[in-house]
Amino acid sequence: MYRVVSIFIAMMGAVAGTGVSVNAGDTDRAVQVLVTYHSVSGNTEKMAEAVAAGARTVSGAHVVIKRVEQVVAEDLFGSDAIVVGSPVYWSNMAGEVKTFFDNWQFKFGVFPDFKMKNKVGAAFATGGQVSSGKEVTMLSILAAMLGNYMIVVSGGGAFGASATTEGDSPGIDDQELTNARALGTRVAEIAKTIKAGLRD
Ligand SMILES: Cc1cc2nc3c(=O)[nH]c(=O)nc-3n(C[C@H](O)[C@H](O)[C@H](O)COP(=O)(O)O)c2cc1C
Repeated sequence: MYRVVSIFIAMMGAVAGTGVSVNAGDTDRAVQVLVTYHSVSGNTEKMAEAVAAGARTVSGAHVVIKRVEQVVAEDLFGSDAIVVGSPVYWSNMAGEVKTFFDNWQFKFGVFPDFKMKNKVGAAFATGGQVSSGKEVTMLSILAAMLGNYMIVVSGGGAFGASATTEGDSPGIDDQELTNARALGTRVAEIAKTIKAGLRD
């Protein structure tokens, strides 16, 4: 019964974004946050570093940051939260990021046991234009996570953190980096809350 109540409290805290604690001991529990991304010209990598910096501000958060092709099984299954970032390619995630998700099965065999179940998931993206696919890209990332029964969260924006990088944009600005840090912080806090709620 305690476990059920704990999960409920943790979920309410996650929804409200308040980091509601179960007890002082549990809130100190360590969590691992994997921040992984694809990037060719460095924009998404810069956002990834800001997401990681935000997560590191949370006590007990151990942050691993890697390009998608460098992620190994230990990174995936050893993480309590995973934040995935992609540049927008033709209004959707980059093929490399889609391949990363497909490899959850081909390389890591997540199905039929749903090995990613209840891990926290979130997304970030960079796109050249203001309105040309960043939100679709983030929602596609979140959809892949939902299909894996993960607990997806927003932060730094309605669907995650994003930045505009081309055209009239001067590149990634301070507000966009602040949003990326906020996403990382929120993900780490929620991962801690959920881990505390799911304890035995
Ligand atoms: C093949 C390709 C397709 C792209 N398609 C879009 C697009 O549909 N919408 C958009 O806003 N930007 C698009 N871009 C621009 C990139 O999303 C943008 O430059 C991004 O910040 C690059 O990220 P990176 O520096 O991490 O590689 C495209 C770029 C490439 C190379």
